[in-house]
Amino acid sequence: MFSTAHNLFQMKNALFVCSLILLVSCGQNENKENQMRRQIDSLRQNLDNTYKPGLGEFMSGIQVHHAKLWYAGINSNWKLADFEINEIIEALDDIKKYNADRAEVKSIGMIYPAIDSLNASIKKHDQEQFKAGFQILTNICNNCHRATAHEFNVIKVPETPPFSNQEFKPQ
Ligand code: HEC
Repeated sequence: MFSTAHNLFQMKNALFVCSLILLVSCGQNENKENQMRRQIDSLRQNLDNTYKPGLGEFMSGIQVHHAKLWYAGINSNWKLADFEINEIIEALDDIKKYNADRAEVKSIGMIYPAIDSLNASIKKHDQEQFKAGFQILTNICNNCHRATAHEFNVIKVPETPPFSNQEFKPQ
């Protein structure tokens, strides 16, 4: 037979062991939480350090597609023209996505009416409308450059094909 005092002692012991287990498991949870937090912090740091193209790089890409678009259009290569104008549209989408922190991007909306009308001329295979639309698009490029204090970046209708290693005539 155990005495009441002995029972009490055992109960206290059991309680002590229980709270110890609780403490240890709480500590483990806290460790896990800290671990997670550290992982999130390092992921965030990785994201901040991820390379993302700047506005100037997107613009240089647009410059190439602008020139190719002209030679596609004046050669009535409508499939290529359609491809090139879509490359410009994609670059504009990327600018809005990746360069949203640049104040200049707020002016980007001015370009869409010119893109839409040029797109319509491509769909209609209308070279006269294409040439007029291309000049308007080019003027808008410069309007935006002026609006964003980059008036020294002057875009014009190209005078020579941008690349000798690409065929602009339809095959
Ligand atoms: C949102 C207004 C805006 C529109 C629309 C726009 N640009 Fe730009 N462009 C800029 C800004 C701002 C810069 C300077 C970017 C920088 O800081 O590097 C620039 C720079 C450029 C550059 C110089 C890139 C370099 O680093 O040498 C070229 C080329 C260019 N744009 C071409 C075009 C063409 C072609 C179009 C029209 C199809 C166009 N841009 C439309 C705002 C615009």
